[in-house]
Amino acid sequence: MSALLNAPLLQTKDLQLAFGAVVVADHIDFSLHAGERLAVIGQNGAGKTTFINICTGLIRPQAGQVFFEGHEVTGLAPREIARRGMVRSFQLPQLFNEHTVRDCVRIAAAGKRNRLSVWTALSNAVDEGAIDHVLSMVGLIDRADEISSALPEGQRKLLDIAMALVMQPRLLILDEPTSGVSSEEKHGLMTTIMRALDEQQVSAIFVEHDVDIVSQYATRVAAWIAGRIAADGPPAEVLADAEIRANVIGE
Ligand SMILES: Nc1ncnc2c1ncn2[C@@H]1O[C@H](COP(=O)(O)OP(=O)(O)O)[C@@H](O)[C@H]1O
Ligand SMILES: [Mg+2]
Repeated sequence: MSALLNAPLLQTKDLQLAFGAVVVADHIDFSLHAGERLAVIGQNGAGKTTFINICTGLIRPQAGQVFFEGHEVTGLAPREIARRGMVRSFQLPQLFNEHTVRDCVRIAAAGKRNRLSVWTALSNAVDEGAIDHVLSMVGLIDRADEISSALPEGQRKLLDIAMALVMQPRLLILDEPTSGVSSEEKHGLMTTIMRALDEQQVSAIFVEHDVDIVSQYATRVAAWIAGRIAADGPPAEVLADAEIRANVIGE
């Protein structure tokens, strides 16, 4: 599917969703352009994950639309949206725990190509060179034959990202990539992720609580408060905003 000329990479128009009385998407109009690295900040329950779930097809909004590269994707299945180039990772990595690191990436690659069936051996369905390449990019090539459940949390996150990258996304949405990772490991993890994204020219949205990480790795910050985007702009501006300092960063 070709990108429409000049269309934003991702755009939402007037997204609305409430769970009972709790409004989690309050008329969200948003757009992201290719090349951006957007950090999403906001307190727990602000609606950050719900926004990602709506964009990637896990949840249907009650009203509003989602467009990827100018084409409407509202209500499409998550697999179809991923195949079009918008791929996400989860706060808790969704790995195939009983499989090796390499097989996890193989399964993800085969899913993208939709060639995984009872008739196709897994080894015939995917490009092994591409698998080695993403494993090298995230620094897991030496652990490729280990069972994924044996990896420490930081490497589980990187495996989850390798599984996303092998799908050749144009937009990767990372829900709290550094959560559950020690503060000493966070920068190494982010550097590895950003290097891989640069190499593959993948744009990114990442949910992050650590202000240092946000200022270092984001080109833009959007702050969520109660289902709406309360501030959106350059990191230095948004992180200095009085409402954001009081209600999001918690000072
Ligand atoms: N499937 C659901 N059913 C009911 N309430 C939900 C559901 N998913 C999320 N919520 C509620 O919606 C609000 C926003 O959640 P979420 O998007 O996960 O916030 P965040 O990621 O910013 O912490 C929270 O109050 C949460 O409890
Ligand atoms: Mg969340």
